[in-house]
Amino acid sequence: MPVDSRRWAVITGASAGLGADFARQLAAQGWHLVLVARRLDRLQALADEIRNAHRDLEVEVIALDLSLPDAAPTLLERVTARNRQMHALINNAGFGAYGPFDELPWERQHEMLLLNVVRLTELCWLFARHMQAHGQPAHILNVGSVAAFQPTPFFSAYGATKAYVRNFSEGLAWELRDSAIRVSCLSPGATRTEFSDVAGIAVPAFADRTQMESPDVVRRGVAGMLAGKPQIIPGFINHLNAFVSRVLPRQVLAWGAVLLMGGRATMRDRSRGPS
Ligand SMILES: NC(=O)c1ccc[n+]([C@@H]2O[C@H](COP(=O)([O-])OP(=O)(O)OC[C@H]3O[C@@H](n4cnc5c(N)ncnc54)[C@H](OP(=O)(O)O)[C@@H]3O)[C@@H](O)[C@H]2O)c1
Repeated sequence: MPVDSRRWAVITGASAGLGADFARQLAAQGWHLVLVARRLDRLQALADEIRNAHRDLEVEVIALDLSLPDAAPTLLERVTARNRQMHALINNAGFGAYGPFDELPWERQHEMLLLNVVRLTELCWLFARHMQAHGQPAHILNVGSVAAFQPTPFFSAYGATKAYVRNFSEGLAWELRDSAIRVSCLSPGATRTEFSDVAGIAVPAFADRTQMESPDVVRRGVAGMLAGKPQIIPGFINHLNAFVSRVLPRQVLAWGAVLLMGGRATMRDRSRGPS
């Protein structure tokens, strides 16, 4: 069977936000794409936009809920059909659930753990083996967060998923350093996407002003990934956050995270007791 040697990237969470911009920017660099998310109409609209802008590119869409148990092997099987080889996995799909941990629905938090941690890890395992087998230069980019750098009260489980993504990615990058696969972790801070709405965060006005734009974050992410950087922190404020998290006491960092995410309101609501 002939081997398709063109560069293909699979992007999870491509129906919105960072994932859609990864698709646009990788297409601009000549990558063929597989776009994955649950909302098929959004994926199809993005695929049409990219095909119109780059008529020589192939764009495939796969509507898939990655929190479901068989999602990762299903995805690998579909993207590698007809001996097609993948040269980049952008593990971007993810969401947060904001609020007091014990008041958030368990089902929502469980889904978050499955998507942000379990599926991301399983996709790395499957695609690393696929990439090792074809042996050509390849990239895995895991999207973490600056939430990984400190405790994040009222976002505790989400921050912990991203701490996992960061540590896991760094370890994997080291393990694979003598292979043709480069592993990177992109750690964005607040970025204007659908993320806050999905998480249930009312971004305070002062924090809203410092949000980065999604195309800017992705530009730095793509450049860092292609340069093989293990850690990519986009923007000055996020670099400052990373630096401060190494020098300040963890309790102070926890307070800082509460204030930055408008968590004082959450605490006031909580002090009134359950409604
Ligand atoms: N924006 C920020 O401030 C920020 C900061 C740090 C890190 N991040 C991280 O950046 C990544 C992208 O987030 P974003 O800001 O672009 O948010 P977004 O605009 O809400 O996009 C999230 C994407 O994930 C997909 N997704 C969610 N659940 C899914 C599921 N079960 N199966 C398949 N796809 C699913 C969504 O598509 P469907 O709903 O169509 O499935 C969507 O395409 C996430 O990992 C997030 O944690 C974001």
